[in-house]
Parts: sequence; C-alpha cells; structure tokens
Amino acid sequence: MKIKSICCIGAGYVGGPTMSIIAQKCPGIKVTVVDVNEKRIAAWNHPDVNNIPIYEPGLSEIVAEARGRNLFFSTEVDKAIDEAEMIFISVNTPTKTYGVGKGMAADLKYIELCARQIARVAKTDKIVVEKSTLPVRTASAIRDILDNTGNGVNFQILSNPEFLAEGTAVEDLLAPDRVLIGGDSTAEGQEAIAELVAIYANWVPRDKILTTNVWSSELSKLTANAFLAQRVSSINAMSELCEKTGADVNEVAKAIGLDSRIGSKFLKASVGFGGSCFQKDILNLVYIAKTYGLNEVADYWEQVIIMNDHQKRRFAKNIIKTLYNTVSGKKITFLGWAFKKDTNDTRESAAIYVADDLLAEQAEICVYDPKVEFEQIQTDLNYLETRSETLNGSGVQVKTDVYEACHNAHAIAVLTEWDEFKTYDWQKIYDNMLKPAFVFDGRNLLDKTTLEKIGFIYQAIGS
Ligand code: NAD
Ligand code: UDX
Repeated sequence: MKIKSICCIGAGYVGGPTMSIIAQKCPGIKVTVVDVNEKRIAAWNHPDVNNIPIYEPGLSEIVAEARGRNLFFSTEVDKAIDEAEMIFISVNTPTKTYGVGKGMAADLKYIELCARQIARVAKTDKIVVEKSTLPVRTASAIRDILDNTGNGVNFQILSNPEFLAEGTAVEDLLAPDRVLIGGDSTAEGQEAIAELVAIYANWVPRDKILTTNVWSSELSKLTANAFLAQRVSSINAMSELCEKTGADVNEVAKAIGLDSRIGSKFLKASVGFGGSCFQKDILNLVYIAKTYGLNEVADYWEQVIIMNDHQKRRFAKNIIKTLYNTVSGKKITFLGWAFKKDTNDTRESAAIYVADDLLAEQAEICVYDPKVEFEQIQTDLNYLETRSETLNGSGVQVKTDVYEACHNAHAIAVLTEWDEFKTYDWQKIYDNMLKPAFVFDGRNLLDKTTLEKIGFIYQAIGS
C-alpha cells in the first residue's frame, strides 16, 4: 500500500505546520487537518493566508501553495477519519488540572476521545500515528480502545513525536535533525513503519529517519525536552552565581559551549523558559518516575522546574528591589509577551508570571508585543486566578506603538527576544521616560554600552 490519504486530528501549533509541510512535499497525498475548534479551522481557511491562526515565519507561503490542492482544513472529523488510510493524532496533552496526578500527569482525555472516535468511525484498516507528546506506554491504551471496536478493522499504532520548535517550525520541519518513528516489531508493525518512512523520505534523507520500538520513541520525546530544559535551567542557575561573583554568564556560556562535548546551543541565560512543552513534559516525566517508585529520578528532573520558577520570580523581585522597593503605581513597560521570538504563542511565557508578581505589588504594566493582542494577555493572567478579571484588566494595558508603550515609564523589562527591539531609537525612548530610566533585560538582548551611554540604568541576566 502507498498512502494516498492522511487525516490529522488537531489543527494546532504542531498539526497545522507539520501537515502543511507533508502536503507541500507530497502533492500526491490528500492531507485533511480536522479540529473541533470551528474558529481555528475558519482561520486556517481564511482567504488571506496572512490570517492563519499560527504565526510561523514562512508558513503562510506554504499554506498558500498547498491549500485547496491537497491540503484541507475541516471540522468534519468523522468524514476525514473515514477517508484516511493514515491518521495522525496531534491534539493537546496538557497537564491535568484535576483528580489523580493533578498538576503533574498529562491529561489524556483528548487522546482517548480521538481513539474512541477512530474506533467508532473506521470501516477500513488504518495506521494511527501518535504525533502528540505522550507518556511512555500510551500506545497500549490506544491499542486497547481500538482493538475492542468489534468492527474487524486492523489498526497499527506508530509513535512519531514532533521535535519542531515554535518560531522555527518551518525550517525544523524542512530539515529536521532526525525523524523518529516507533512501531511494533511484528511484520504488520514494520510495514506500517515503512509507510511512514516513505512519506518522510520525500524530503528527509533516509539516514535521518530513525526507527525504534514504540516505547523508546514515546520516551525519547520526553527525554529530549527534559535534556533541553535542563540546559536552560543549568545556565540560569549559573547566571545567579555570576551576578554575585563578577563573572559574566555570556562569557561562561561561550567558554563552556566551545567544548564539543557540551556544545553551544541552549545555553542562553534568560528570565526562564516558557512554552507549552518543557514544563508540562518534565512534570509528566516526574509523575511517571514517581508512579514506578523512582523518587530520586523524579526529584532530579523536578529540580529543573524549581530552578525555572525561581528564575522568573527573582527577575520580578529584582525589578521591585531596584525601583527602591516599591513599584506601586509605577508604569513598567514589557517588551514582549510571547514565550520566545517569532511566535504568537504565549503558553507558560515567563512574562505572565513576572507580570503577576508585579501586579501583586500594584505596578501598572504596559505591554508591547508585535504578535500578541490584549485579549490573549488578559486570558493568560486570568488563567492564574490570582486576582479578579477586573483588576487584571485595569492593571495591564497594551499598546501597538512601542514608543507610546514606553512613554512616561519608570522601567522597561525585556521579556521576549524579538529582533526588532534591537533596532529601536533608544535615545527617543529614553527622552520620554521618567528618570532614572531603568532597563531590565530578561533576554540579554540589548547592548549595555549603548544604553548606558544614553543614560539608562541597565541590568541584564547573569552579569
Ligand atoms: P494545540 O493546543 O495548539 O492544538 C491542539 C488542537 O487539537 C486544538 O486546536 C484542539 O481544538 C484540537 N483538539 C483537541 N481534541 C480534539 C478532538 N477530540 N478532535 C479534534 N480536535 C481536537 O496544541 P499543540 O501545541 O499543537 O500540541 C499538540 C501536541 O503536540 C501536544 O501533545 C504537544 O505536547 C505536542 N508538541 C507540541 C510542540 C509545540 O511546539 N507546540 C512541539 C512538539 C510536540
Ligand atoms: C521545545 C523543544 O525545543 C522542541 O524540540 C519541542 O518539540 C517543543 O518544545 P519550543 O517550546 O517551541 O520547543 O521552543 P524552544 O526553542 O525549545 O524554547 C523553549 C523556551 O526556552 C523558550 O522560552 C526559550 O526562550 C527558552 N530558552 C531556550 C532559553 O531561555 N534559553 C535557551 O538557550 C534556549
């Protein structure tokens, strides 16, 4: 069999970009991305491709090329499942907010709903691909559900975790470091693996397509994110020590990164990592370790999260301390709200937690982010349930002009490393701020010498 029809359940940050690339690279395959969120699907189908719901550099061009040709976005989930030979599950797997494992385990209710829906609808054999990040051994739960449908349909379950990072999704998908596919060792399992390998082989060199058993594949994804986040927490831990000792974390990072055994990536000290994956996946790993009674393993990885929480909190504390121990009624301008540059995603962004701490001290926050709007910022703050929605509404304003955002501010805090922040007329910003004018650079993005020459009091992370 050569796959001719693919369905992907979940049109989010992973489903949308991944399927767009598959459609672009495999014009002979019909790719239908379905979602229960009608607004999201409508946005994917918006006649102006610049209005698709996810901002990723280069994505709108690819959607423009493939959409309507062999790439379709729809809310008709049953129809797409029925027509597809291969079904990717790319729904969200957030941290549980209730019941057993609350605050740690992955909430698999959306995954289970997908499995049940596939089981109910499928009339022909299907290959089901786990694209979502899942706890190790989830495939066996999916298999249990699918094998008990009574329709006599054969299912193969593959694990194919996604390693793209937001902001670089298109380049990551076009030239991945590797593609990982896990499947059963049976002949049928190996055949299913071969089908998926054949799809990726349209643009990914064969030696970068790695095949493993299902459990290794599932666990590798959690492990990769834990290792990446651990590097950020490690360098952030050193940043605090640098501040006390006169060392400079950028210099330390460069010095250790040149060691080929360590490598230079993911050593950028920051206000703390955010994003939808790192925290959720490490908590999930910690939970899994605990359920096997591996308490030392659990504690080891939990420390990565503890360090990250500390880094966010100490950034806010330092602002308060430096502004003479009070920010009450003071305007503090946030440059950036997204969890990293080149994305409109704000999930778990450090900005949310820093804002929350400053609002508790009655600061007046003004946000400028090139891709994030007022409603999203309010939703993020309200989700914490620290104070009433009215108070969040009155404590935070959003401007679409950066100079207006900084006008009459006591301090600026850089929360996201958007490139455009480096190109501003910083003299003009300084002239319109209250004095002394402070910059707290949570991304070590701006040039200290230039800013100090203008007159700013500039503080970075780790120096
Ligand atoms: P997302 O929230 O952006 O998208 C998930 C979509 O699935 C939502 O639009 C939701 O409406 C839809 N959905 C949920 N249940 C559904 C159902 N039963 N039927 C149809 N649609 C349904 O999430 P995301 O960021 O794309 O992440 C998806 C998965 O991929 C997660 O497991 C995540 O851990 C993993 N992942 C994410 C990234 C990333 O950078 N965001 C990277 C690698 C892996
Ligand atoms: C991550 C993984 O990198 C990706 O492989 C996985 O598939 C999904 O989760 P993402 O969360 O999109 O991707 O972005 P990433 O580039 O990993 O950054 C995560 C957070 O760490 C961001 O807040 C970023 O600013 C921060 N970070 C990253 C640092 O603070 N310092 C660094 O050196 C690198």
